[in-house]
Amino acid sequence: MTIRVLHVASELYPLLKTGGLADVTAALPAALIEQGADARVLLPGFPGVAADLADLRPVARLERSFGAPEASLELGRLPGSGVPVYMIRADAFYARPGNPYLDAEHVPYGDNAERFALLGWAAAQLALHLDANWTPHIVHAHDWHAGLAGAYLRAAARERGAGSHGARPPARSVFTIHNLAYQGIFPAQQFDALGLPANFFDMHGVEFYGQLSFLKAGLYYADKITTVSPSYAREIQTVAQGGGLEALLKGRAHDLVGILNGVDYAVWSPAGDAAIAARYSATRMSGKLRCKSALQQRFGLASKHDAPVFAVVSRLTEQKGLDLLLAALPEIVSRGGQLVVLGTGDASLEQGFTRAARQHPESVAVELGFDETLAHEIVAGADVMMVPSRFEPCGLTQLYALAYGALPLVHRVGGLADTVVDASLENLADGLATGFVFERFEPDALTAAIRRAFALYARSRDWRETRARGMHQDFGWAASAQRYMALYRELADSV
Ligand code: ADP
Ligand code: GLC
Repeated sequence: MTIRVLHVASELYPLLKTGGLADVTAALPAALIEQGADARVLLPGFPGVAADLADLRPVARLERSFGAPEASLELGRLPGSGVPVYMIRADAFYARPGNPYLDAEHVPYGDNAERFALLGWAAAQLALHLDANWTPHIVHAHDWHAGLAGAYLRAAARERGAGSHGARPPARSVFTIHNLAYQGIFPAQQFDALGLPANFFDMHGVEFYGQLSFLKAGLYYADKITTVSPSYAREIQTVAQGGGLEALLKGRAHDLVGILNGVDYAVWSPAGDAAIAARYSATRMSGKLRCKSALQQRFGLASKHDAPVFAVVSRLTEQKGLDLLLAALPEIVSRGGQLVVLGTGDASLEQGFTRAARQHPESVAVELGFDETLAHEIVAGADVMMVPSRFEPCGLTQLYALAYGALPLVHRVGGLADTVVDASLENLADGLATGFVFERFEPDALTAAIRRAFALYARSRDWRETRARGMHQDFGWAASAQRYMALYRELADSV
């Protein structure tokens, strides 16, 4: 049987991206199609999505619009991969410029509950034959934005069946946690607007400490829960990292699995990357030096090919641990290294890096903003990519770094711990090292890792070997897609 799976999310590269979620929702469905699935995506019709989907055509009017004057479903294709994408057109909700979740003052939109309830509800409608030509067996929802999909599926089952448990939901469901820190919490009063059965507002349901939580709904109603690395799957079952949901997650441990994200090497490969100054590969590395010079020039840094370039491409939020990097920055500068930062987010971090760049114009440079092309140029030109995150569900930048021969320097947490092998003496001796890993989330631990990066950089043969090993790692999507396929089959077989 061909498995039909609908991925429900709010971001999709290259149409709309604020972080790694968009890379995943673009690459995973395409990888599933290669494994024989019939995969489609459902997204809100944000401006970039409505403008750039190919062959967009109407499918159906939506009966409910959660307060938007009207809402309808359209179907198009993702340019490039051709993956079919459903889009909800509800301009009053989604046709807003800028960030999809926050207004110009960086405050969540007041109607986010309704905007994203519509997404989850429309997903359930597709399982109820909204499109006569295509009905999913599996609804696979990503992060809190799609968190209500499972709840609406369960509600539909209730309506159809007699008895307290109702009939089986019209599709099986999977919920993937990309980040437990964003929970989609709203005041309890907003529950009525969702049109869910009244008793869903319960500890065993969408209620979370007296409020309404879209993330909890996703975790509670999904048949299976996945997250994006094995380590994070364990970490979120602890009080320290469970965000108040650890008991629920622990209770569902037998339905929870960590499946590592992959890299779309069609987008992230130095041998074929049109965005970078010169192409290169593990066996022809001269282009990397050209990329480094171009990067130093682009950022107005001293043109020194022997100065190690450390780099950051990141959302500037508490998660990413960049306050620690600000504290450790003198270690890089005083040893003759350089630092390039591309990011946008918290004002204090933006100011901190801007100040550092002003103090050390020859060796520190910052670009505030989101720039996909520049992200590629930086990974290509950098010697070390810094990912000192407090927590990291998976992390993609360290995987891109490996592919581009920039050694990742990471905190041993979540997906970072699962993907980078520290350049300790024994790992170097055994031919295992791919980067630098520090244990304690403290400035001195990061500083020590930076010193080790300088020490290895000075041993150019070891450096080159470690770099080549990283470039040969295979984090392609095929292996992860196979694991999702096995999960879907298990669910489909249990119908
Ligand atoms: P997260 O999803 O938590 O932000 P990931 O490492 O999984 O972290 O993914 C981050 C993605 O966003 C990568 O593709 C990275 O290149 C990209 N990215 C982050 N910040 C920027 C930025 N300022 N400009 C361009 N790309 C960025
Ligand atoms: C989230 C996480 C990141 C992960 C990405 C894609 O944004 O913060 O670690 O790689 O989702 O799954």
